[in-house]
Amino acid sequence: MSSKRYKAIAEYYDPENAHHAMLEQDVPFFMGQLPKRRQSILEMAVGTGRAAIPLAQAGHRVVGVDYAADMLAIARRKRDAVGLSDRQLSLIKGDLLKLDLGRRFDWACILFNTFLAFTTIEQQDAVLQSAIRHLKPRGRLWIDIFQPDFKLLARSSLAKVDPVAFYVPPCDRTVMKTIDVRRGITPQVQRVTFHYVWFDEKGHEHRERTEFDMAYVFPRELELLVERNGLRIEHLFGNYDGSPLWPESPRIIARCCRGR
Ligand SMILES: C[S@@+](CC[C@H](N)C(=O)[O-])C[C@H]1O[C@@H](n2cnc3c(N)ncnc32)[C@H](O)[C@@H]1O
Repeated sequence: MSSKRYKAIAEYYDPENAHHAMLEQDVPFFMGQLPKRRQSILEMAVGTGRAAIPLAQAGHRVVGVDYAADMLAIARRKRDAVGLSDRQLSLIKGDLLKLDLGRRFDWACILFNTFLAFTTIEQQDAVLQSAIRHLKPRGRLWIDIFQPDFKLLARSSLAKVDPVAFYVPPCDRTVMKTIDVRRGITPQVQRVTFHYVWFDEKGHEHRERTEFDMAYVFPRELELLVERNGLRIEHLFGNYDGSPLWPESPRIIARCCRGR
């Protein structure tokens, strides 16, 4: 079983996440941490522009990078629909493992657990190197991941969790989604499977799935990882209310600067 990279079913991504409570809070919280004056922001793994669009609408200059052409196509469509220009939000195809845009930003951010899609220390180093390469001397990196939950980790697998039904306008279909999680091939890696079921107008059942590996990282490991890549955690939050990180906090949200 080889390691699986994250690849969303692009047209499902926005509808399946539309009612995700956490995703109503992460972008406003990040935005609240930014200085009022215009910032240049690199969103690493921009996806469909869920975060990049409101950041650009708030007046910041945003560059979003993703390796999935179909996710970027949706992001471009949404950007154009709200009247943002390419200067306000530029969307670029690129791999975070070897990103070099030749320019530096006030902020880089990697949201919604995406840092955990990089499952080996080599990959995590490569992503952090990509981040630091794009930061101005006083630039900041924002990393937002889940904090591992010991109760869930104690189980070797979870089946059919987080059921949700969502409507996908471009496909005109309602899709039921469940998630399986099981231990992966390497330590501290889980294999996540999204199962989708929908019925066509003749009542025929269709099944799709997408599968990827996801690491889990503890706060001290994140601290060591960023430090070995020339960064330092300047502030750690445990949730979107700005509370500090506690053992039972759901999130690890790290604001990092250069230096040890
Ligand atoms: C969970 S989505 C997050 C999208 C967006 N940041 C958000 O918060 O909604 C993860 C994204 O990471 C992208 N991705 C994963 N590995 C990548 C890589 N090596 N380089 C660039 N993008 C990557 C995927 O294509 C996907 O769009």
